[in-house]
Amino acid sequence: MNYWKILVLILLVPFLMQCTPAGKPTAGDPYDHRVDSVMATMTLEEKIGQMTLFTSDWDVTGPTLRENYKEDIKAGRTGAIFNAHTAAYNRELQRIAVEESRAKIPLLFGYDVIHGYKTIFPIPLGEAASWDLAAIELAASVAAAEAAASGLHWTFAPMVDIARDPRWGRVMEGSGEDPYLGSLVGRARVRGFQGEGFENGDKVLACVKHFAAYGAAAGGRDYNTVDMSDRLLRDIYLPPYKAAVEEGAYTVMTSFNELDGVPATANRYLLTDILREEWGFKGFVVTDYTSINEMVFHGNVADDKEAGEQSINAGVDMDMQGAVFYNHLKKSIEEGKVSEAQVDQAVRNILRLKFVLGLFDDPYRFMDIEREKRVVFSKENQDAALDVARKSIVLLRNENQTLPLSKTLRSVAVIGPLADNKVELIGAWSGAGNGNDCISLLQGIQNKTAGSMQVRHAMGCDFEGTDQSGFAAAVNLARQSDAVIVAVGEKAQMSGEAASRSDITLPGVQEELVKALVATGKPVVVVLMNGRPLAIPWIAENAPAVLETWFLGTQAGNAIADVLFGDYNPSGKLPMTFPRNEGQIPIFYNNKNTGRPFDAANKYTSKYLDVPNTPQYPFGWGLSYTSFAYEGIGADKTEFSAQDTVRIRITLSNTGARDGAEVVQLYVRDLVGSVTRPLRELKGFQKVFLAAGAKQELTFKLTANDLAFHTRDMTFRAEPGYFDVFIGGNSDATQSIRIQLAE
Ligand code: BGC
Repeated sequence: MNYWKILVLILLVPFLMQCTPAGKPTAGDPYDHRVDSVMATMTLEEKIGQMTLFTSDWDVTGPTLRENYKEDIKAGRTGAIFNAHTAAYNRELQRIAVEESRAKIPLLFGYDVIHGYKTIFPIPLGEAASWDLAAIELAASVAAAEAAASGLHWTFAPMVDIARDPRWGRVMEGSGEDPYLGSLVGRARVRGFQGEGFENGDKVLACVKHFAAYGAAAGGRDYNTVDMSDRLLRDIYLPPYKAAVEEGAYTVMTSFNELDGVPATANRYLLTDILREEWGFKGFVVTDYTSINEMVFHGNVADDKEAGEQSINAGVDMDMQGAVFYNHLKKSIEEGKVSEAQVDQAVRNILRLKFVLGLFDDPYRFMDIEREKRVVFSKENQDAALDVARKSIVLLRNENQTLPLSKTLRSVAVIGPLADNKVELIGAWSGAGNGNDCISLLQGIQNKTAGSMQVRHAMGCDFEGTDQSGFAAAVNLARQSDAVIVAVGEKAQMSGEAASRSDITLPGVQEELVKALVATGKPVVVVLMNGRPLAIPWIAENAPAVLETWFLGTQAGNAIADVLFGDYNPSGKLPMTFPRNEGQIPIFYNNKNTGRPFDAANKYTSKYLDVPNTPQYPFGWGLSYTSFAYEGIGADKTEFSAQDTVRIRITLSNTGARDGAEVVQLYVRDLVGSVTRPLRELKGFQKVFLAAGAKQELTFKLTANDLAFHTRDMTFRAEPGYFDVFIGGNSDATQSIRIQLAE
C-alpha cells in the first residue's frame, strides 16, 4: 500500500462512520474532517496548486500557456486538468499525481462534455426544442456515463445562459430565450450528469455556466459587454442558474463578460452575495478560460496579480488556465491583499468535491479501460441518441401535407451542401465525437428506403461563396425525381464560441439553390441544419415544407429520415424566436407592451417601417403531421388567495389522422404591476401523446408563487390583481381565461 493510501486511511478511519458516500452539501458536512486532515498536511504552494486548472495539450479551446503540465502535476502545482481524456491517458496522469507528487492528492479531470462525449446528441438548443425533460436528462446521463468511463470527473455543462440574440453563436449551447423552460432543462441536465452519486463511476460533476448573463453580450458579439438592470438580471437571466444550483450542481463557472462595469470573474455581488449567500451554493467556482487575466483588457485592474486578488476576493476558487494564482497568489498573500483563510476556503471547496467523487478512496475509479470499451459509443447509446434526435426536430412549415413523403415514391433527389455531409452534423462543442461517425442525411434516407426507391444526390452548391455552377445538375435531378429534399444551413463552427454572425441568413448561395429547386414545381422539403435561429423569410413563405433539424449528432441522418417518411411524427417546438430579419433583433416572446403598442391605424406607434413586429416563427412554434384543437379553457376558481392553488383545465383533441404528441403551453400575463410586466410568460407545459381522434382534459396548477417577480421595491412576490392565462401550442396561444389574485 503506498503512502497516500496509508495517510488517508489513518486520518480517516475515525470519521468513516459518519460519511455519506456522496451527495449534496448537508449541514454538518461529513467531509469536513476528511478535508481538514488533508489540508493539515499541505504547503501553501500545494494549496495554490489545488486552485489551479491547466489544459492538457489535447483539444484546446483557447491560448495555451503551459506545455509542461506533467511537471506541474508532479510538483503539485496543479490539482485539476482539462481536455485530457480516455481512461488510459488520464490514468497515467493520475498516477503521476498520486504516486509522484508529495501531497499525493488525486487530480480532477474536466472536459466540455456538452451534448455527448463520443456518442453525440443534438446540440443543446436542439434538445431544448424537444421540451422533453426525460429525454434531455437521458442525453446528459449517457454523456456522463461515457465521459466517466473515459477518465473524466467533471463536465463544463450545463450552459444555461438565456439568449435573446441569435447572432450570438453560443445560443447553440443553451436552451434559448425563456427562463422557465431554461430552468427546467438546466435541472434535467444537472440530474442527468450527476445522478444520485458517484459510487458507480458513471456520473460526473456538473458545472453551471457562464455565471452570469453571458448571453446578453451587446449586439450578439461574443465576449462583448453586458449591462442590464438588476430586475432584468433577476427576473430573466438568473433563474436558470439558480435552478441548476438548487438541483445540486456542484460547480459553477464564471463568465467572460462584465456586468455593470465589473467583470463576472471579479464580481462579488454575483459570486458571493447571490451565489453563496442568497442561494447557499456549497461547491466551487471555476473561472472561464483565462478570464482572470482578461480583466487587464477589461480595464478594471492594472495587472494579472491584481486581477487574481479581485477574483479570489470576489469568490473564485479555481483559475482555469490563467496561471494567475500559480504565478502571483503567494505574493498577494504575503502583501496581505488576500488572506490565507480565503485560500483555505477555496481549497476546502475543491478538496471536498474530490472526496464526494470518492477519489481519495480510489483515484482510478473513473479509469476502467474495460468499462470504457463497453460503454463508449455502445449500441444502446446510439439508440438513445436516435430517440433524442427525433424528438428535437421541429416541423416549421408543411403546406398541403407535403410531408411525410410516401414510401412508394419512385425517386427522391437529395440535394444541398449538407445532404451528403457527416462531419458538420456533429455540431460545435462535440467533445470526443468524430464527425465521420455521424449518419449523413443521404445515408439515413438510403437506410430507410433500402433500395425501394431511387435515391440520387447532387450537392448544388457549397456552404459559402458565389459559385452556382452546380445548380443546373441539381435542378435537372430535381426535375427527374418525385420529391426533392434539400439540406441547407450552417457549418458546425458557424455557431458555438467565437462564432457570432451579423447576417443570420443562409450563407453563400444556398437560398438561391432552394429557389431554383422550388421553381421546378416539385414537392421540395427544406431540411435546415444550423446552430441558431436563422432569418429565412423567402423559404418560410415559399418552400412547400421546412424541417428544423439543428445539428442532431451521431444519429442525425436516421432521425431525419424517420421524420421525412412518417415513421416518426415530429413534435418539437422552438425554444427561441425566429426573426424575419436581423433588424428585429433582439426579438423574444416575453416582451413588454410599450406605451404605444402597434396600431396599424396610427403612425405614431411602436413599429418598423419595413418589417412587421411579429417574428417569422414565434417561441414555442412547431407543427405535427396531425392537427390539435384546444377548447373549453376553464378554472376551478377565478379568484384565489396567496395560499391557493388554481387548477386551469383545457381539452386537447387530436383532430387529424395520425397519432402524435403536442407540447401544450401555458402562458400568463400580469395585467397591472408595480413595474411593467411582460405580455406573456411561460409558466407551464405538458408534452402529451394522443392517438388520432383522441381527446384529453389537461390540468395545470398555478400558485401565487408562479406569478411572483421582482416588484418595484425588488421584493420577489406576486402582486394582487388580474392575470390572463393563455393555453395553446405556441406563444401566440389564443384560448384564455382571466383569474384574480385577491388582496
Ligand atoms: C468556454 C467555456 C469552456 C472553456 C473550457 C471557454 O473558452 O467559454 O465554455 O468550458 O473554454 O474549454
